[in-house]
Amino acid sequence: MLPKLQTKNLTAQFQLWFGQNQINNNVTINNQDNNNMSEIPQHNKQSEAVANCSQQLRKSIICAENFSLWYGGKLAVNNVSMEIESGGVTAIIGPSGCGKSSFLRSINRMNDLIPNTRVGGRLIVEGQNVYDKRIDLVSLRRRIGMVFQRPNPFPKTIFDNVAYGPRLHGFRDRTRLNEIVETCLKSAALWEEVKESLSRSALALSGGQQQRLCIARALATQPDILLMDEPCSALDPIATGKIEELIVALKEKYTIVIVTHNMQQAARISDRTAFFCLGELIEYAETNKIFTIPSNPQTEAYITGRFG
Ligand SMILES: Nc1ncnc2c1ncn2[C@@H]1O[C@H](COP(=O)(O)OP(=O)(O)OP(=O)(O)O)[C@@H](O)[C@H]1O
Ligand SMILES: [Mg+2]
Repeated sequence: MLPKLQTKNLTAQFQLWFGQNQINNNVTINNQDNNNMSEIPQHNKQSEAVANCSQQLRKSIICAENFSLWYGGKLAVNNVSMEIESGGVTAIIGPSGCGKSSFLRSINRMNDLIPNTRVGGRLIVEGQNVYDKRIDLVSLRRRIGMVFQRPNPFPKTIFDNVAYGPRLHGFRDRTRLNEIVETCLKSAALWEEVKESLSRSALALSGGQQQRLCIARALATQPDILLMDEPCSALDPIATGKIEELIVALKEKYTIVIVTHNMQQAARISDRTAFFCLGELIEYAETNKIFTIPSNPQTEAYITGRFG
């Protein structure tokens, strides 16, 4: 059992890394608590969605209620309402540019890093609106880990990559850090390959190993939810197979939301699938249903390769 992380009074220390570039997380967002949200159209289905969501909260860990996202004047996510149950894997599929990554990044507010972003509606995670201005972003991102399309280990040792989050949250005791690093590398199915070389640079690992290291790093802050944006798209079939096996093993313990362009992958590893098109959620159901008897003709056209 890993020691519980403390997140109090850490906001000022929080730093975020994109690739190998460190970006201080002090970017502001025009969210619904800001004045210019009055420009955002109110949706008449909102109160209905809120009521439905409240009833479902006990089993839904993520609940979008008429959620929209704009980049400047560009509407990227259009009035999406969906509930993601706790546990299991939810796949998000859809043609390029349909808002999959934007929606995924909204869940832990990674879009805050993009200037002129604003949102409408609500996104409730574990009962809290993540766009509430009182939200503690450090705590939010501790609970919601993210794995990106391209493996992005920090230019540090393997050990320091995994220990990064715990250290940020105040862990200094070497024995406890050793324990966390070992547990997370085992969970990410990487321990056997790196246990003799924890002090080597993470950049010396293969792409597939780097991606598993990024998963270990995400697990080290003990998240409840793992967001994965096309985590296998830069990997060969063998490394992809390993990540898929890992996702299936991790879904027992974590709620996983994965964006993928690979239909077979969605069918193999996910329990539920959401089909997005032009920023809208077109259909969301059990994966088996989506891939055998989709209700919407657009979904059928997409999964049979007739568009997208
Ligand atoms: N940083 C940004 N600034 C402005 N517009 C953006 C930004 N990121 C995405 N968009 C726009 O938002 C829309 C949705 O993009 P998004 O990246 O979410 O799509 P996607 O479904 O993930 O596509 P892909 O499958 O190609 O990754 C697109 O029209 C895109 O051009
Ligand atoms: Mg994307």
